[in-house]
Amino acid sequence: MPYERTLDLNSDAFRGEAYRHYAALRQASPVFLSQPDGQLPMWYVTGAREVEEVLLDSERFARDPSRIDPQFAAMLGGEQSIAFLNDHMLNRDGESHRRLRRLVNKAFTLKAVTAMRPRIEQIAESLLDAVGPSGRMDVVSQYAFPLSITVIAELLGVPAQDRDDFRRWSHMIVRQVGHDLSELQRCYNEFAGYMLALIDRRRAYPTDDLVSALAQVEEEGRMLSRSELCSMIALLIIAGHETSASMIGNAVHTLVQHPDALVRLRDEPALMPDAVEEFLRYDSSVERAMVRFVTRDTELAGQHLRRGQFVVAVVGSANRDEVMCANPDRLDITRPACPHMSFGKGTHYCLGASLARQELDIALNTLLRRCPGLRLAVDPSAVRWRYVPNFRGPDALPVCWSVG
Ligand code: HEM
Repeated sequence: MPYERTLDLNSDAFRGEAYRHYAALRQASPVFLSQPDGQLPMWYVTGAREVEEVLLDSERFARDPSRIDPQFAAMLGGEQSIAFLNDHMLNRDGESHRRLRRLVNKAFTLKAVTAMRPRIEQIAESLLDAVGPSGRMDVVSQYAFPLSITVIAELLGVPAQDRDDFRRWSHMIVRQVGHDLSELQRCYNEFAGYMLALIDRRRAYPTDDLVSALAQVEEEGRMLSRSELCSMIALLIIAGHETSASMIGNAVHTLVQHPDALVRLRDEPALMPDAVEEFLRYDSSVERAMVRFVTRDTELAGQHLRRGQFVVAVVGSANRDEVMCANPDRLDITRPACPHMSFGKGTHYCLGASLARQELDIALNTLLRRCPGLRLAVDPSAVRWRYVPNFRGPDALPVCWSVG
């Protein structure tokens, strides 16, 4: 076996060449136990079949740690303000998960999302109006992030002018490590405090948005507790922009690295829906699903997993498994739809998949139409990446284009 158990799959060295390492892991051990010095053991699942098995079987692989035992859950839980951010559907299983998901499903149907198209196009156009004449921008901070955060903020009814605060809070929460604990705690307190004040305002003066609708459900004592409501909004903000913004960044990065595909897509925008699926498959912004907890001793691809152990399904690796499609390491924007797992599988399948696809479609179409000769403005080796535990995406992506 080429990899030792002490392999750290979160090191920059690993993440910097993740797809190459995952290919080797899939060959050698598609279910791999990693235990770097001083860390808890973690099973990494890299084979497509095994990833699918984990995500579809919430009986054996739970998201809710209290199904192991209350002490285990308490160990992972923590302060009150964390409860106000963590009490959401992605941390639940079974009926408890369905109950929360039903409350927001309607806002994210294909029909509801299609109705948002003109507004998303307007946001993309106005962001490019601002930078167009200069012929250069950082795709992440000047396009992908403001686009995604504005869309989800408007849908929820959260003031978009506070987006820099959301970005700061959200970045800290998804990164977790690398901040001192008091800094992290302050961030949790600020985020939860902001949400609770917003909920109270929307309850007193409802507007036509999702927070007001959900605040009504809570007030009437029908189904939603205060911590569930606060956590739901926090989840939608974080899941609704971190992933989409990074995905736009990944897709533009892929395109500028594949100039033939870029020119073809600019000249044949009808290819965009298939291309969007290919960008999602080729370099997903969600590299790994959220950790699962083993509910009983079990076997997976010949490995023995014990109750209470942690399991990470690596969807980014599954997407590059040859059992999914031919030549998985090759970008092919005309590929007939390949069943990628970038939006997960099973009960926690991404709530915002239609919205994310539409944002990506609009962001790329608008960029290619408005920015002729789009290319990287720096040497490819200078692009900095942001490897937070589950996500991948460029930290910044400077591009330029021809003006006049
Ligand atoms: C390209 C962008 C996106 C990607 C790649 C993505 C990916 C994913 C994945 C893989 C999961 C499942 C996680 C797991 O099983 O551990 C998930 C769940 C989720 N996503 Fe997304 N997502 C994206 C955009 C969005 C957007 C725009 C929203 C909007 C609100 C959103 C909201 C959610 C929610 C609420 C869940 C939890 C669903 C549940 O627990 O039932 N996502 N997403």
